[in-house]
Amino acid sequence: MRYNPGMAASSLQFTPLGTYIGARVDGIDLSEQIDDDSAAMLEKALADHLVLVFPKQSLSEEDQIRFAGTFGDVSQHLRPDALRNKGVPAANPAVMMVTNERKDGKPVGYLPDGEIFYHTDSCFMETPQRAVCLYGMAVPETGGDTIFASACRMYETLPADLKTRLTGRNALNSFEFGISVKTVEKFDRDKAVSHSHPAIGIDPRDGRRFLYMNELMTEEIDGLSEAENRETLKAVFAHIRTSPDHYRHKWRIGDLVLWDNRRAQHARTDFPPDQPRKLRRVPVADDKPVKMAPA
Ligand SMILES: [Fe+2]
Repeated sequence: MRYNPGMAASSLQFTPLGTYIGARVDGIDLSEQIDDDSAAMLEKALADHLVLVFPKQSLSEEDQIRFAGTFGDVSQHLRPDALRNKGVPAANPAVMMVTNERKDGKPVGYLPDGEIFYHTDSCFMETPQRAVCLYGMAVPETGGDTIFASACRMYETLPADLKTRLTGRNALNSFEFGISVKTVEKFDRDKAVSHSHPAIGIDPRDGRRFLYMNELMTEEIDGLSEAENRETLKAVFAHIRTSPDHYRHKWRIGDLVLWDNRRAQHARTDFPPDQPRKLRRVPVADDKPVKMAPA
């Protein structure tokens, strides 16, 4: 953990937004450096609530990157060079603009339109990002909400037979950049990047178990037949989609939302393409890989 000494950010207030996930944080200006005591409180709140919403912030790119660095090393935008949009102004490699802005009809950012299924970012990499923060710069009047669901509760509420079947197994996560809604049973393996992780993970920080599979990216569970895989994935994805333990964030300009990218899954609701939506994304790297939950 790397804390920055700096100006005191006192009078932090946490207001839960849901029973199992989400808290609003008031009493802190993220454009200033965060003192060690406040950083420790935010770290604990992130573990407890999984999603922290800081409303009414006014943040430069540098401010947001410095804030992300409170929780570990700042990671990078993972999209390969060949798949990056040309003509996008050169930015810090930590920054990805999630926006539907277009120039000459072509998106200038990433993930411009529509719904996105539940997922965790970068779980197709060997070391997925630990946390992510998004900053609201333009928001649609309707739709484009981000829904966060607790993967800890997904595990705890998983039917016993599924818990037994998944515990001790790896699941293969695979992603073809740009896909936001899964329309085929399997991705094209030649195009996708893939990595396996424990289907039931243990967070090395506090030992809590969570479901580490998601509908957008998880392709198969190691050691199961094709038929068993199909049946199990269908049941797990239905369980995720119907999880009641979620928080739905309606974006406002100036919102900074930080989430635990392993223990919270996120999805996006559809929104009208003619309404501007622009969020600035900065990820935090992980230094404590997810462990396999023992049977
Ligand atoms: Fe995402």
